[in-house]
Amino acid sequence: MLKMRKVNLARSAGAVMLGMAIAMTGSLAQAGARDQAKRMYDRIAGVPPTEAELNAMMAIMDADNDDVTDSDAAAQAAAELALDSSGFYNVTLKNMATPWTNEEQTLFADLNDFTATVIGLVRDGDDFRKVLYDDVIYVGAIGGISPYSNDSNDHYVELEASGENLGDPAVLERRTQSSVTALDSAATAGVMTTRAAAKAFFVAGTNRAMFRFTMMNFMCRDLEQVQDTSRTPDRIRQDVSRSPGGDSRIFLNRCVGCHSGMDPLAQAFAYYNWTGEEGTEAGRLQYTANSVQPKYLINADNFRYGYATPNDNWDNYWREGPNSVLGWNATPFTGNTGSGSGAKSMGAELAHSDAFAECQVKKVFTTVCLHEPTTSADHAQVSSMVSNLEASNYNLQTAFVDAAAYCRGD
Ligand code: HEC
Repeated sequence: MLKMRKVNLARSAGAVMLGMAIAMTGSLAQAGARDQAKRMYDRIAGVPPTEAELNAMMAIMDADNDDVTDSDAAAQAAAELALDSSGFYNVTLKNMATPWTNEEQTLFADLNDFTATVIGLVRDGDDFRKVLYDDVIYVGAIGGISPYSNDSNDHYVELEASGENLGDPAVLERRTQSSVTALDSAATAGVMTTRAAAKAFFVAGTNRAMFRFTMMNFMCRDLEQVQDTSRTPDRIRQDVSRSPGGDSRIFLNRCVGCHSGMDPLAQAFAYYNWTGEEGTEAGRLQYTANSVQPKYLINADNFRYGYATPNDNWDNYWREGPNSVLGWNATPFTGNTGSGSGAKSMGAELAHSDAFAECQVKKVFTTVCLHEPTTSADHAQVSSMVSNLEASNYNLQTAFVDAAAYCRGD
């Protein structure tokens, strides 16, 4: 069906050696080639292969019928057959991305503009870093369903109910987000400015939730893991008490750890809001250009000398100190400076880090191998998958294929 993908099948010598090492442990020998093919397909597509699909995979993986497979051929079989299945898009990718779209992190939720955009970016083999900053959205292209609406998710509920293959561009098509939602193109920031994300993370509160969940879902780190009390607290907002419970040491030893780095980054969202009430379906994303949302200035009396947000300028204090290990890089918007204005450049700041690449790979590994990377061989595999992801210009299909080949024996 689709012939648009460009999976880079060139494998590093390291990956080949790793494959040999696994073969020598005997785990691959126990699972015959046919079982391996079945398992790879099942894990990528979420359903077993048909007999014809299985035979087609075997023709690639075990061309000489000796019941021995190597990683390259296995990866190629996975790319040509399993990645072409509707199950990969409608089930596996949807289930992987759905927990990122709600605070409960449940996968039992309808398709929405966030999940559809993740599915589309992967399908088209696009640079997956765009998920946090591009002017992109994927919408249904089939007839007989409600049009996209800023005020409801019906379009995606009906698209999903149609059962059509989201891997088909005639079913799910790429559009610019600005043309679909009418948000200013400069204000779009990938999935962060979708309706689903806004409803989940710009609702009520102080917009720090959007930052926290983006860190969890795309950097694989909750804020507990990035706490650093050695950063300057000069941008912590007024709502954070400087002496919680009357004790300024708590502020310095605890609150500063998250808020000194988080508050200047979450400032990027200063012009966004969700109009609806928490726990209801109604509402839409609101963007007030050059005008700071009132939620940034609430509870100013908690500490009047705190930072009063004047604009959407953000700074990444975590480029220095212990969080420099996240591997910050140059971005298309800000170069190497770690500062900018608005959600788009801040999204690129996160997406162009080493932590982002490693996080995507780990999520794919866990999805396909059905366990987190634990052994030293698993961690070596993750490193090789990160290298392959970068070499493929962040085509996430590469990671699925690599993971499927790696885990085919267990
Ligand atoms: C582990 C990281 C972390 C630490 C430590 C931390 N905060 Fe926060 N804080 C957050 C996050 C994340 C939010 C946003 C919560 C949300 O909306 O989901 C937040 C929100 C807030 C808010 C806004 C009100 C709200 O609930 O949204 C205030 C006020 C606040 N924190 C004060 C403090 C104080 C005072 C301390 C120290 C006692 C502290 N925080 C320590 C991460 C942290």
